Amino acid sequence: MEVAMKNYDNPHPSVMPVARRPDVCFVRGKGSWLWDSHDKPYLDFVQGWAVNCLGHAPDIVAEALARQAAQLIHPGPGYFNAPMIELADMIAAHSCFDQLFFTNSGAEANEGAIKLARKWGAMYKLGAFEIITLQHGFHGRTLATMCASGKSGWEELYAPKMPGFIKVARHDIDAVEAAIGRNTVAIMLELVQGESGVHPMPEDYLRALRRLADEHGVLLIFDEVQTGMGRTGTLFAYEHSGVEPDIMTLGKGLGGGVPLAGLAIKKEVSCFEPGDQGGTFNGNPLMTAVGLAVVNALLAPGFLHHVRVMGRRLSSGLTQISGKYGLGEVRGEGLLLAMDTGSLPAAALVEHMLAAGVLINAPREHTLRFMPALNVAADEIDRMLALLNAACADLKTTLAAEEVRDASLS
Ligand SMILES: Cc1ncc(COP(=O)(O)O)c(C=O)c1O
Repeated sequence: MEVAMKNYDNPHPSVMPVARRPDVCFVRGKGSWLWDSHDKPYLDFVQGWAVNCLGHAPDIVAEALARQAAQLIHPGPGYFNAPMIELADMIAAHSCFDQLFFTNSGAEANEGAIKLARKWGAMYKLGAFEIITLQHGFHGRTLATMCASGKSGWEELYAPKMPGFIKVARHDIDAVEAAIGRNTVAIMLELVQGESGVHPMPEDYLRALRRLADEHGVLLIFDEVQTGMGRTGTLFAYEHSGVEPDIMTLGKGLGGGVPLAGLAIKKEVSCFEPGDQGGTFNGNPLMTAVGLAVVNALLAPGFLHHVRVMGRRLSSGLTQISGKYGLGEVRGEGLLLAMDTGSLPAAALVEHMLAAGVLINAPREHTLRFMPALNVAADEIDRMLALLNAACADLKTTLAAEEVRDASLS
């Protein structure tokens, strides 16, 4: 039986319609730019969902791939390889963590964090297994990480749910304290909720979470899949508050476009034994060699400063547009920013911008999200803002004309 997806005419029926993809096929990219099969250029402020921290097809990624592919692609997860060791050493040296485990996706890294917390609970907390997570949070699309997520619309999907996740309202420290019980093993959250529409966690809330976790002997897990790797202007977002978690997960930017993610832990919570965790492709040298090249690029003098400067430029441009058209809040950190669009439907703005040759994302009905390459240039930001300004003006005029027409018909 064929079931049609609501309001979506899939232009390529052999490709499963798991997303409403526009009828555009991308064939090449460089930096902040993509080209489709008709050679139309697009300025990309989505960048593979905050993945391509160095833009499209960066030379250093292409070179790392070519060099490593010619040398060693996959000795297997049961053996060490040089890039895996070097990348683990490098992240440990530039963070508060001692051990790394590399995975293929952010969800898989979060699965690892959940497993580690449960094992730690079994060993040291009389079998405690519950993890407190936040409403509107997003941790991935495996069965466990969907249950950890607080995305609306997912409550009924893929029943029965995996037990062990308690959801509380974001920014509400009393709710977290009230939810901590005998079975609680960890508190898990994003430092900026990305998929919910870019909602940063206040620093005093993070400090209070750390205090609560210490008082009750539970683990603190930061999901930095979206916020890590320079996205917020520091290598990791936890650096802004200085609040150190026990466990951090990474993904997206870590591979600069290739599938690489990771689980970073402090040695005090290290409790996996051989056989507890793994996967065929985990830590393979082809991906970790790229991760190494990416981390080196992010740590180059001036790179993270550029992210902060460009973040301020984008944020102030969005604030001007919001003020001019009476839209809504502009929020976020570094180059992970959002603007509420007030009465303007965000999806219509995305469509206008696509036609004008710009990619932006609408995580909510009335919210736009901007996640350009971290090496985006000032004139690329200005160009995107000018086209967004024009799209807002156009849409306002169209909606006003429709209102007048509707009123005259009624
Ligand atoms: C905060 C966060 N965690 C986890 C994930 C899942 O990562 P992946 O899609 O690589 O499995 C995402 C993806 O958007 C994310 O934003």
